[in-house]
Amino acid sequence: METAEFKGQVADLQARVEADFLDITSLDDLTLFFQRYLGKKGELSVLLKSLKAFSPDEKKVVGPLIQKVKTKLNADFVAKRDTLELAVLNEKLKSDWIDVTKHEEVLTGNLHPLSKVQRRIEEIFHGMGFEVADGPHVEKEWTNFDALNIPASHPARDMQDTFFVKTGSDDPHENSVLRTHTSPVQIRRMLERGAPVRMICPGRTFRNEDLDATHDAQFYQFECLLLDEDINLSHLKGVLERFLSEFFEKEMKIRIRPGYFPFVEPGLEIDVWFEIPGKKGKWLELLGAGMVHPNVLKAGEIDADKYQGFAFGVGLTRLTMMKYEIDDIRFLASSKQDFLGQF
Ligand code: PHE
Repeated sequence: METAEFKGQVADLQARVEADFLDITSLDDLTLFFQRYLGKKGELSVLLKSLKAFSPDEKKVVGPLIQKVKTKLNADFVAKRDTLELAVLNEKLKSDWIDVTKHEEVLTGNLHPLSKVQRRIEEIFHGMGFEVADGPHVEKEWTNFDALNIPASHPARDMQDTFFVKTGSDDPHENSVLRTHTSPVQIRRMLERGAPVRMICPGRTFRNEDLDATHDAQFYQFECLLLDEDINLSHLKGVLERFLSEFFEKEMKIRIRPGYFPFVEPGLEIDVWFEIPGKKGKWLELLGAGMVHPNVLKAGEIDADKYQGFAFGVGLTRLTMMKYEIDDIRFLASSKQDFLGQF
């Protein structure tokens, strides 16, 4: 090859390299570009190899020409690669970006209002030295009635519309009922550990009632039993007033009326004065109470000459409805999120 021809080829190559270089917009383009010109079989490499054919003097003329093209091409290539790689990295960073300061709304659960009230009651009574007891929902007829001084013939058995769990037996120790109140836990506690006793028992109770906004076939009560030496009605009044005032976070007025429950003597009905802001106040029947009947102490194997005490049973469901101004008991058994989410 003549040196003139070689010079022409170098000039031609340089022109094409410059034009092609301008078209590179991606790393893929760049790879193709490299293969075409700089790779082992690339045009520049081939042209460099053809230098061999020239004499040393000719080489001195044409060598620097092609070296100049090669040096520039290498430098341009590296610069282009760096720019394109940086652009790819930036693009990736943009799409992978996480805003750690962004506030996402997270839905959390909350306690059922009945559970909240139960916990609060337990807290208040713990503060007065009471323990929290538990008993089964399916109770022996004996514990639910007989031991509480309600014999089979007693009309009080019908007073509480009982769900019987039929066994075909007449023996109250075998027959079962869904407990109609939490009072059988009094008997369980006495038989288990004797006196003295300071306990409350919150739990579910069942009665076969006509259902409406204030009656459900299952509701919650809590029982309170205190047995010790020299206990009288003033202790009952003191404990109740303290409890109600702490629970409603203000001083509560109560009204005590005579009432009849076979398991207490005397028996009392206790109402509480209740006001909702903007509405007329009224007396609400809240609980039954009294001094534990000697027959009940006997069934619980307690020495009635040494110990006596009081018991009461409160509508926990009713307390909940009062506290949260819920006017329909059926909401409590619904699983409606817009209701439950308010607590
Ligand atoms: N067990 C009664 C009821 O459910 C309430 C009560 C409990 C009354 C303890 C007196 C003493 O109606």
